[in-house]
Amino acid sequence: MPKIVVLNGPNLNLLGEREPAVYGRATLADVEALCQATGARLGVSVECLQSNHEGVLVDALQAAGRGVRAGEVLGVVLNAGAYTHTSVALHDAITGAQVPVVEVHISNVHAREAFRHHSHVAPAAAGIVIGFGVDGYALAIEGLVRKFGGR
Ligand code: DQA
Repeated sequence: MPKIVVLNGPNLNLLGEREPAVYGRATLADVEALCQATGARLGVSVECLQSNHEGVLVDALQAAGRGVRAGEVLGVVLNAGAYTHTSVALHDAITGAQVPVVEVHISNVHAREAFRHHSHVAPAAAGIVIGFGVDGYALAIEGLVRKFGGR
């Protein structure tokens, strides 16, 4: 069964208690359960990882790239949190690993502060889902399966 890796970056471990007016009440555990259920519905396995550390996310993207080349991984759903707006390392990890990535943001970052309007991930992403709340993770998984599931 092909695998999708769901990566959540800094502060997303605080979902549910962190700015609920912006991010909602769902916890990270709820998000990961939604991802698992979506994967089960679509016939892919889902592996979830959250880290507050940029290098851990780089390592996970490189590992996913190796999984793609081994024919085991379809792609990555990545909510890089604030690293989206700062991290050239994440951009380079995606292009270097040649891994299909769907960038996800729970909130509509373009309706928020200007510093959230630029993404280093976006130019390297296969697709982007923004502003649909935590449902965006399910939409991103479905997008990966539709775009890359047949190969
Ligand atoms: C976020 C948006 C980012 O700007 C922010 O730093 C986050 C969460 C989102 O899911 O809306 O941590 O990626």
